[in-house]
Amino acid sequence: MKRFYIETFGCQMNVHDSEKVIGTLEQKGYVQVHSPEQADLVLYNTCSIRDKAEQKVFQRLNENRRAKGKVFGVLGCVAQQEGEKIFEKAPHVRLVVGSASYPRLGDLLVQIEQGGGRAAGLSLDTDATFETPATRRDNPYRAYITIIEGCDKHCAYCVVPFTRGRERSRRWESVLEEARTLAGMGYTEIQLLGQNVNSYRDPENPERTFAGLLEAAAQTPGIRRVRFTTSHPRDFGRDIVDVIDRNETVCNMVHLPVQSGSTRVLAAMQRQYTRDEYMRRVEWLKGSPRNIALSTDIIVGFPGETEEDFRETLRLLEEVEYDQVFSFKYSVRPNTPAQKMGDHIPEEEKSRRLAELQEKQRNIQLRRNSGQIGTVQEVLVEGLNRSTGQWIGRTTQNRVLNFVTPPRAGGSVPGREEMFGRYLPVRVTRAGPNSLAGECVIAV
Ligand code: 5AD
Ligand code: SF4
Repeated sequence: MKRFYIETFGCQMNVHDSEKVIGTLEQKGYVQVHSPEQADLVLYNTCSIRDKAEQKVFQRLNENRRAKGKVFGVLGCVAQQEGEKIFEKAPHVRLVVGSASYPRLGDLLVQIEQGGGRAAGLSLDTDATFETPATRRDNPYRAYITIIEGCDKHCAYCVVPFTRGRERSRRWESVLEEARTLAGMGYTEIQLLGQNVNSYRDPENPERTFAGLLEAAAQTPGIRRVRFTTSHPRDFGRDIVDVIDRNETVCNMVHLPVQSGSTRVLAAMQRQYTRDEYMRRVEWLKGSPRNIALSTDIIVGFPGETEEDFRETLRLLEEVEYDQVFSFKYSVRPNTPAQKMGDHIPEEEKSRRLAELQEKQRNIQLRRNSGQIGTVQEVLVEGLNRSTGQWIGRTTQNRVLNFVTPPRAGGSVPGREEMFGRYLPVRVTRAGPNSLAGECVIAV
């Protein structure tokens, strides 16, 4: 049982967890393969944020149910949420492990190998996941760093408190040490991760909060870009904007999920802020000299959302002018407070609201992106689009900027190795709703 395949669903936390799982397994002598057919151990790192996400893994398991001689394992949020019920739903699954139990993964696999049975790791009371010695990062320039696990907010619709447990902050020094190690390995961009980064507190010194950690991380020699996600508006203080203002290396983009533009719906969602309180934070951000880009998450069709509530969300989009919006139809989740509220808005109505919202946002994004035409933006080069021949870069505002380089005298073209990971100045010449296009302004 030494070749493993892993497929990851869900958020960046999950992507990073998979990196930790891969590193841990490789240390134990396992080799990663890139198709389930080649593997002896097939792992799905799952998401249960909406019903659709959860269904995906059961679909995968169903496709594989007749595969012989393989061990199937379910990791992550569906594992934590459904627990040993997964063994009943998909009898060929032999391993179920929630994110807080990954340090035990090796032992659980040994247990299966030796005993032949099943194994589960579902305890939530540990914080050992932070200091995973081996992490296998795929991207050589941009690295995730977990700073806080879990969430204590209990938004009415959300499974996260059940799937990832109570908030646990990582030691300040441990975070900074990882940042320094990554810088030493050549990483130039780091992304601080947590379900609610703003409520970070150093467990050894609770006076040290997120803003301070962000600033300290931003001053790590060798690190050129620092991002952070996700923020909860209630805990998002002015001090974070001050840190962005003072530190060029903190990217000028903030993801601040609003969920709804209606104070009434926000109360029903137990978000603990009003529309006005949210807008105050937007004003801080818009008032910054750093030209901070803003993105958000929105749920349409929460129980009791009226047409007027929905219109308020549309008006909020116009008022804020987000650079990017992730929008979702409400999905009832097990164990959540909102489960009892039912799910009254018909599916077609949710779809209509979602489509209207997305159409409006598309126009806003086109307008925002068009405003960048003619400017020169620094991009981190991350990819090459083979069909168009354009390099793919990201600006500090996290916009995708596809670009070409000026022709070389001898007619040769730069190779991937020369280009990937570089920071280059690019003039924006065209804009679409989801990306920009341009030309590099220096010879490469
Ligand atoms: N239904 C729909 N969307 C949800 N989200 C979280 N829970 C639900 C749910 N039950 C959305 C929120 C959150 C994002 C990660 O997913 O917008 O910010
Ligand atoms: Fe999905 Fe939430 Fe779990 Fe991330 S934390 S994988 S978004 S359920």
